[in-house]
Amino acid sequence: MTLPFDMKFLDAGSLAELLELQNIIAANLPFPEIFMLHDEEYLRDVFSRDHSAIGVRVGEMLIAFSIIRIPGLAHDNLGRDINLPEEELGKVAHLQAAAVHPAYRGHGLQRKLTFAHLNVIEELGYEHACCTVSPKNPVSLGNYLSCGLAIEGLRPKMHGWWRFILHRNIRQANQLGIEQKRIAISDIAGHLDLLSKGFKGFRISPQCEGKQVQVFYAKF
Ligand SMILES: CC(C)(COP(=O)(O)OP(=O)(O)OC[C@H]1O[C@@H](n2cnc3c(N)ncnc32)[C@H](O)[C@@H]1OP(=O)(O)O)[C@@H](O)C(=O)NCCC(=O)NCCS
Repeated sequence: MTLPFDMKFLDAGSLAELLELQNIIAANLPFPEIFMLHDEEYLRDVFSRDHSAIGVRVGEMLIAFSIIRIPGLAHDNLGRDINLPEEELGKVAHLQAAAVHPAYRGHGLQRKLTFAHLNVIEELGYEHACCTVSPKNPVSLGNYLSCGLAIEGLRPKMHGWWRFILHRNIRQANQLGIEQKRIAISDIAGHLDLLSKGFKGFRISPQCEGKQVQVFYAKF
């Protein structure tokens, strides 16, 4: 069934519905640590920048959103986590959050929202898109990888929760090397080892019941 999705930029007038949608999403997470909730003050700040929030509606109802943030030279600029040169940090944009109402998943909305925000990031003149994803969130990881981001780091972030650090250089296409490796998504030590050897994660295996998702790595 194709639903009539309507994708638009959101402004401060959508604050209350976005908070409500976040609450529904939070109440349905398999692990609380996979999704960081944003408070009202944070979201007000997001809305103060044009094009920072995109929402999807079915009829009047907000059912999905994506948020970007420009970190500037702040300490939490994700470019620092993947050793981007200092002079590149000002060109970084964060894909800060994306989520879909549990009743409307499986329509590729995270990918659509991410591609829309990658276009915004490029049009605004930023060159690096970065985001974080929990190793316990294979759906989101697969979606960001299929939007051209690659795993370039893995470290404990807020609350000590593990996060892959994903990055896409907006202006460069990735050229995969011939040598490829694959490891289980939960193999933290294995990821750290491959990343330390210069590999980047570029896709995951399809999810099959009872089987661990595998992450594929190559040198770019
Ligand atoms: C991650 C998320 C945004 C993906 O939503 P989406 O864009 O609708 O997902 P997709 O359309 O790519 O769905 C792909 C498949 O995974 C399934 N799926 C989607 N989310 C799922 C979930 N949380 N748990 C299990 N399966 C899920 C879909 O049903 C679909 O299966 P199908 O191909 O058999 O139909 C959504 O799961 C979500 O909001 N999760 C909670 C918040 C979150 O994790 N945000 C990302 C933080 S980095």
